[in-house]
Amino acid sequence: MPALFETWLLWLENTSTAAAIRQSLWLYPIVQFIHIAGIVVLVGSAMIFDLRLLGLARRLSIPDLGHNLIPWSNVGFLIVIGSGFLLFIAHATDWAENPLFWLKILLIFIAALNAVIFNKYVMKRLRGWEIDGKLPPIVRISGVISLFFWFLIIAAGRFLAYY
Ligand code: HEM
Repeated sequence: MPALFETWLLWLENTSTAAAIRQSLWLYPIVQFIHIAGIVVLVGSAMIFDLRLLGLARRLSIPDLGHNLIPWSNVGFLIVIGSGFLLFIAHATDWAENPLFWLKILLIFIAALNAVIFNKYVMKRLRGWEIDGKLPPIVRISGVISLFFWFLIIAAGRFLAYY
């Protein structure tokens, strides 16, 4: 690991916030709870939307469902990233040595990129496609990628402590 990065990790781990989370009996489990609560909001809302993209609940309009659920996914994502960073800094040098942690971060980037591409390029064409009754494969592919990667990330997160 580059020396500068290792110095940064050590600095992170020695911040008063990291020390407080590490030394308190309750703070770490409370942050873990917030991490899991954020995952429920993020993956819960994303999963309902993705299942609609895969053809479930056809009576529900995809753009309308998206406008209601995507903001919740965004809120969940921010909560998970914030709480995840706090869990990380408490034991930064240990987590940084764990290859599963970096795999998890890579998977998060792929899942987030899939969501950004969908919101930027697919969402605005959806209403037209829905009216024509012809949803192109990109819609289902994006739903499958999203479902697959968010659950893979959950698995990576759960096994982190055992790897
Ligand atoms: C964005 C999507 C994310 C998901 C779905 C996710 C999911 C999870 C899950 C399911 C766990 C296991 C929780 C438990 O059993 O207590 C976990 C643990 C953890 N996550 Fe995340 N996570 C995400 C993002 C992050 C980020 C961005 C970071 C760090 C920057 C992070 C750092 C951690 C750490 C350090 C743990 C281990 C906690 C422990 O076992 O002591 N997570 N994550």
